[in-house]
Amino acid sequence: MNQLKNKTLLASAITEGKGLSVFNPFDDSLLTTVKTTTQAQVEDQILELEAGQIEWQKRPADERSKLLKKWHQLIIDNEDDLARIITLEGGKPLKESLGEVRYGASFIEWFAEEGKRAYGSTIPSASNDKTLLTVKQAIGVAAAITPWNFPLAMITRKAAPALAAGCSFICKPSESTPLTAIAVTELAYQAGIPKNVLRMVVGDSHEIGEAFTYHSSVRKFSFTGSTLVGRKLLMQCASTIKRTSMELGGNAPFIVFDDADLDSAVQGAIASKFRNAGQTCVCSNRFYVQDGIYDAFVEKLVKAVDKLTVGNGLDEGTDIGPLISKQAKQRVSDLITEAKGRGARQINREVLLEGQFIAPTVLVDVEHDRPLVQGEIFGPVLPIIRFSHEAEMIEMANDTIYGLAAYFYSQDMNRIWRVAHNLEYGMVGVNEGIISTEVAPFGGVKQSGNGREGAKEGLEEYLETKYVCIGGLTR
Ligand code: SIN
Repeated sequence: MNQLKNKTLLASAITEGKGLSVFNPFDDSLLTTVKTTTQAQVEDQILELEAGQIEWQKRPADERSKLLKKWHQLIIDNEDDLARIITLEGGKPLKESLGEVRYGASFIEWFAEEGKRAYGSTIPSASNDKTLLTVKQAIGVAAAITPWNFPLAMITRKAAPALAAGCSFICKPSESTPLTAIAVTELAYQAGIPKNVLRMVVGDSHEIGEAFTYHSSVRKFSFTGSTLVGRKLLMQCASTIKRTSMELGGNAPFIVFDDADLDSAVQGAIASKFRNAGQTCVCSNRFYVQDGIYDAFVEKLVKAVDKLTVGNGLDEGTDIGPLISKQAKQRVSDLITEAKGRGARQINREVLLEGQFIAPTVLVDVEHDRPLVQGEIFGPVLPIIRFSHEAEMIEMANDTIYGLAAYFYSQDMNRIWRVAHNLEYGMVGVNEGIISTEVAPFGGVKQSGNGREGAKEGLEEYLETKYVCIGGLTR
C-alpha cells in the first residue's frame, strides 16, 4: 500500500479505529482497515441520492458524458496504482489486474457516448388527432452489490450506464475487496461527479443488502454474485417491485469437436479456464472432448497447463495467484477429493501448495453427475469428459440450471451455427475463450440471472420507457 504513487486514492477511507480489516490473500497479512457505514447511514444516503438524482437527470446527456470521460481518463492515469490495489486485495496476477483496470475503464468511456443515444420513438397513430411517442427517462436511484473477483470492472459496468442514463448510483463492494472500490470512487469525485450522485458504502452485507432491496426510493437493483444469494435478493426486491439485473452463477461447458483447430482449442481452454485462477462466472467449468481429437487435445493441454506458474500476483511471470480465501481453497479441494473418490484421475503434475493456493489440476474419467461438473468450481480445476455424438453433447451441455456462458471449437460452418443456436446460454464463444467486452451484452439465461450489462442493452437497464399520447394536435 505504501508504494502507491497517488496517496489520495484511499486516504479518505482509511481508519485507525474500528472498521473493516482488509487482507492480502497471498499471505493473509493485514493491508489496512477502512471505515464502514451502518444501515441507518445507508438509508440516509439513499435519500440524498434521491435528491441528487433529480438534478443529475436534468443535466444534458453531453454534460454527464464529459464528466464520465474525465473519470475514465483519471482511471487510465492511475492504472498502475489501481492494478496494484486489485492484486494486493484480490490476489490476481498484476498483468490481469492491469487488464481489468482497462476493461473496467472501457465501460465508462463507452457509456459516456451511449448515454447521448437514449433515443425514444414516434409511433404511427391509428387516428389523426392523436400523436404517439415514447421518451426514455432515468429510472431513479440505482443500487448495486458487486463481487471480489472483478473489484473494479463489475462496479464500472453498472455505474457507468446508470450515471450516463441519469440515475444516481450507490454500491456496496465485497468485504474482501473494498479498496479498489474506494479508489475508483475517489477518482470519480476528482472528475467532478457529485457525492449525492455516486456513493460507495462498505459494511455489513446483510444490513446493506436489506437497505438496498427494501428501500422504496431505490428503483433499480443490480447484483453480481452467486445464484443462491441472487435468489434471496430478488425476493427482497419483490417487496417494492424494483427493476433488477442479476448476473449470477455459471457452469460453462467447453466443447471440443473432432474438427476443431487443436492449437487454438488448447489456447482457448487455458485462457477461459485459468483467468483469475478460475474465479470468474464465465470460466469454463467442464470440458467435453470428442473421441477423434481426445488424445491429441489432452496431451497438448496437459503440457500447456504444466507450464503455468503459481505464485504471488505481484511477481512478474505469475499466471495463477491465490484463491480469495481459506474457505474457497477448502471448497475447491473438497470438490477435487470427491471427484477422485469416484474414479477421476489427475493427469498433470500434482503439486500440493501451502496457503490459499491450488495448483492447476486436470482431471479425466470424471463422472458427469459429480458436484465438480454440476456446480460452479471457481478454482483452477479442469475436468474432462469424453463424448461421441453432437446431439448427446448438446443435451449434457444444457443439462444444468445455469445458462451464462458456453464455448465450443469447430471449423464446420453448419455445426457452428447449429450448436450456437442450440446451446441454452446467454453468451456463446465459438473458437474463442475470452468473450467479455464493453460493446457486447453480458448476461445469462435460466438461473444465471436476468438483464444484460455492457452494450446498448446495458443502458436500457437504467431507463424507463414512457409512452406519451398527445391529443388534438392538428397537422
Ligand atoms: C464475472 O465473473 O462475473 C465477470 C467476468 C467478465 O466480465 O468477464
